[in-house]
Amino acid sequence: MDQIKKADKGEIKIGNDVFVPLLTEEVIQNRIKELGKQITEEYKGKAPIFIGVLNGSFMFLSDLLKNITIDCEIDFFKLSSYGDEKLSSGNVTLLKELNCDVNDRHIIIVEDIVDSGLSIKFIEGMFQKSKPSSMKVITLLFKPNSLKYNVKIDYIGFEIPSKFVIGYGLDYAQKYRNLTNIYVLSEEQ
Ligand code: PRP
Repeated sequence: MDQIKKADKGEIKIGNDVFVPLLTEEVIQNRIKELGKQITEEYKGKAPIFIGVLNGSFMFLSDLLKNITIDCEIDFFKLSSYGDEKLSSGNVTLLKELNCDVNDRHIIIVEDIVDSGLSIKFIEGMFQKSKPSSMKVITLLFKPNSLKYNVKIDYIGFEIPSKFVIGYGLDYAQKYRNLTNIYVLSEEQ
């Protein structure tokens, strides 16, 4: 089993790859507090359903919900497009369906990252037959320069460069989701 090796300046080394800190736990949590406050204000009396897109969104959804102070519910989709690769395969597979009834409900799709926008496009397609009262999308991370599909993202935690990131739910070959900071692959190897 690989060990996460801590190097200087908070860097971590995974095999031959060096990852450097991009967003610290403190910066992430402060932004999530702001988003939670904003959504709490905007959804008063609406009892929204937060729909997390597994696996990556589990940490963000958990921390976001701690900052929502109105009645709300949660459910999850499980999608997979990236497999164990750093780049999307271009195909999305639905691995777990929703269990809730979204008709006449306000739903908020919760993503850890929007990269090409393919996953959100796929999710929008899935809701074409159902009739939620409203549907919005929140993502912790957004790569504006990677977007290939015409999707609307309503709440964005951070815009980041089009580089490979791990930690805080985001994986590299399914590992490192448990890191509390977000790290970016260093180009200086
Ligand atoms: C990641 C991430 C998003 C999607 C974003 O999921 O969690 O769902 O990719 O990329 P896109 O905008 O190009 O669609 P992934 O398929 O890696 O699965 P995971 O959440 O289990 O890591």
